[in-house]
Amino acid sequence: RHPGWPARLGPLVAEGGGVGLRPPRLRDATDWSGIRLRDREHLRRWEPSGGDWQQRNAASAWFGQWTALRGMARRGYVLPFVITLDGALVGQLTVGNIIRGALRSGWIGYWVSSAAAGNGVATAALALAVDHCFGPVGLHRLEATVRPENTSSVRVLEKAGFRREGLFERYLDVAGAWRDHLVYALTAEEIPDGVTSALVRSGRARRP
Ligand code: ACO
Repeated sequence: RHPGWPARLGPLVAEGGGVGLRPPRLRDATDWSGIRLRDREHLRRWEPSGGDWQQRNAASAWFGQWTALRGMARRGYVLPFVITLDGALVGQLTVGNIIRGALRSGWIGYWVSSAAAGNGVATAALALAVDHCFGPVGLHRLEATVRPENTSSVRVLEKAGFRREGLFERYLDVAGAWRDHLVYALTAEEIPDGVTSALVRSGRARRP
């Protein structure tokens, strides 16, 4: 067992409804695949390259994804969440590359379906994850990399209080080419009351 895992977080109520995070389940295959196949154009521009979209997002591919995520979670390297909106799966949020010792850090990444986007869902999910990481999980620093062109994701990070630290040039193979990424970060002492409280105070979310 690793601190803070497994966990169910939320709900936190955003404009779109009640946002929660929970571990992925084997029976998420159909929902996950349905969104990923429908939303190819919405997702593909921003996600790491990796073979045929249809194949790797087919319902039959979920078993492999789920097994890999569960294995890494058991070893304490990853916190893999699905994002739910009023109980329905609408995306994923993953805390990866978790390193303990004197670094106590990880990166964070997420996607939300086009149907659920634009209603504060990603921001609420990020707030829940950050507070959990700096609380029960015991991390000190979270990092997120984002393409400068991805204005809505940049906005999500800024609303959650992440600071821009710099530019990683030709950092990641995304949609078939090496893309520059902005690096954003947040350390625990920057938000002593948590991101969730800050969102609630600013009126962007409320507790149920
Ligand atoms: N230009 C500027 N701002 C925009 C634009 C745009 N074209 N489109 C949306 N926005 C703003 C919204 O108005 C909102 O800001 P506001 O609250 O100040 O109005 C913000 O961007 C979006 O905030 P949320 O509603 O909390 O986020 P949402 O639930 O819509 O999810 C996300 C955003 C995750 C980027 C979603 O669109 C998505 O999954 N995109 C495809 C995959 C992706 O890009 N994932 C992120 C990769 S980077 C990373 O993981 C760190």
